Amino acid sequence: MNISEEFIAELKEKNDIEEIISDYVPLTRKGKNLMGICPFHAERTPSFCVYPANGSFYCFGCGAGGDVITFLRLIEHYDYIETVKFLAERAGMNFEVSEEEDESHKKKLLIYKINREAARFYHNCLFAPEGEEALGYLKKRGISLKTIKHFGLGYSPKSRFALINHLSKKGYNNEDVVLANLAFKTRNLKEKDRFCNRLMFPIIDVRGNVIAFGARTMGGDIPKYINTSDTPVFKKSNNLFALNFAKNSGMESFILTEGYMDVVSLNQAGFQNAVAGLGTALTQNQVKLISRYTDSVLVTYDSDEAGQKAAAKAITMLKDSGINVKVITIPKGKDPDEFLRTQGKDGAVRFKNLIEKSENDTEYRLSKAKKMYDSGSDEDKINYLTNAARILSSCQNPIEREVYVTRLSLEMGINKSALIMQIEKFMKQNLKKHKKQEFKNLEKITSALNDKINPEKKENLRAAVAEESLISYIINNVDKASDIFLRVNADDIITNFNRRVFECVKSIIAEGKTPDITSISAKGDFNFEEIGRITKIICSYNSQLVNQKTAYEYINIIFDENKKIKVKNVNELSEIKVKEYIETLKSDKK
Ligand code: GTP
Ligand code: MN
Repeated sequence: MNISEEFIAELKEKNDIEEIISDYVPLTRKGKNLMGICPFHAERTPSFCVYPANGSFYCFGCGAGGDVITFLRLIEHYDYIETVKFLAERAGMNFEVSEEEDESHKKKLLIYKINREAARFYHNCLFAPEGEEALGYLKKRGISLKTIKHFGLGYSPKSRFALINHLSKKGYNNEDVVLANLAFKTRNLKEKDRFCNRLMFPIIDVRGNVIAFGARTMGGDIPKYINTSDTPVFKKSNNLFALNFAKNSGMESFILTEGYMDVVSLNQAGFQNAVAGLGTALTQNQVKLISRYTDSVLVTYDSDEAGQKAAAKAITMLKDSGINVKVITIPKGKDPDEFLRTQGKDGAVRFKNLIEKSENDTEYRLSKAKKMYDSGSDEDKINYLTNAARILSSCQNPIEREVYVTRLSLEMGINKSALIMQIEKFMKQNLKKHKKQEFKNLEKITSALNDKINPEKKENLRAAVAEESLISYIINNVDKASDIFLRVNADDIITNFNRRVFECVKSIIAEGKTPDITSISAKGDFNFEEIGRITKIICSYNSQLVNQKTAYEYINIIFDENKKIKVKNVNELSEIKVKEYIETLKSDKK
């Protein structure tokens, strides 16, 4: 792929990192830098830092980092070419990429095309004679023609070769259809359709690409639903069904449901803001995805035990990401789809009523606790109040707490102060637990015990820290680089990861270019986590603390540690020699 460095430099010049990241993360200025809540992991206190001076970002919580290109690749799941294209368009720069230029980009585009053609094929099959039963099934479930068209619902025929033959006639390679996970290779190496005799739900991303399918059986087959597995354009845990509609619904909140059919029915009833996960428990990435479009979610999960457990988990995750959560309870253990169907033409209005009656999650948890202990016995009363205190201890808003405390004390005929005391006790416990956890996390980060990026660091802590500081010094003082390179070789760098970085920086400088996170990502063979680490190394440089003198000290430490390793190796060798000698003595005796 040939994008010139001048072009990338201009691209970065014209696309201010601060401006771009602000579209996703509210940032507040802290001196020269900006801080915000990290969009890549769940947190309440900001550990995500943007460094406008060198055009990079780094999260001290999860280690994500890099330049503006890395940021967009991580958050939008763009590939490299897509990112460059996006930034070029944004800056009004001319960027023509011939499709041949990037193989993986080309493959992705091809899969989008294949998926779109497949969606069209399945949709047409629904209206062909073979789709009669499927169409009847949808009608029986109250789904209108308009809704079917809106979602592009379809039917995959019974034949094991319907789609693969169709796509082959359209000129697509069987191999590529397999790559899109629409077919699979059987043992005799013949390709067969993956989806047969199922109702098809196309999954469409926010840019309008068909990225995958959900497929429901119409009989009692197990499994009831199957999904596209992960492909180059799709990851189940990173996507939501109907996000393409919800994003444009113009409504303030999203309705989060469990199932495809719930979303379809809700849309039909006018709730375009409904989304669903894709058959797995809600993931951190899905929460982050939601939080990019809304800060308020109405959760409505099945009322069976599994559904309630899943709801509780989802609520905690959403709240931890700073999203306001309310819970819609659907009467008589129905899911939203069943509710709407049984209410007939009044469904939409009745569902709106349910939304109005929806409780914030504190209220929801309180009423659940109350149901659990409703015998009226003293024991149950105590259990209920203790539970209620525990629930209220996790409620961050003091006014909200006050409201519930007043209500509870009236309802149960007890003294407010007793309840408050119990809540405060729990709050102290929570705080302790929280602090302990934070300390543990911090310990983990600083001790390098679990360092997966530079696993040798824990054994060579002194050397690794000196290496990182030296690398940071070189990058931030390129004019001093040649002096340093006269004194230290790559061979002297003890830890493997740091050596790779050192070599990469050295060769960038040798080519007369500037070593920064962009040129390092472009030149070196580093993955996203490694790029994050390098960003940290670069950004933690402090020009007031590090100068030529300290740089020489780092070099001395590195040499010193090298010597220690040599001595250790010699000792180990001589130990082996002594053992060998003893062995020979033993065998001589025999
Ligand atoms: P209907 O039964 O048609 O009303 O669908 P539903 O969406 O209400 O299904 P259900 O409540 O049983 O499941 C909720 C969601 O979990 C579905 O929409 C699927 O995404 C997923 N799901 C359900 N059953 C299966 C299964 O057997 N396998 C997989 N992978 N996912 C499933
Ligand atoms: Mn259902």
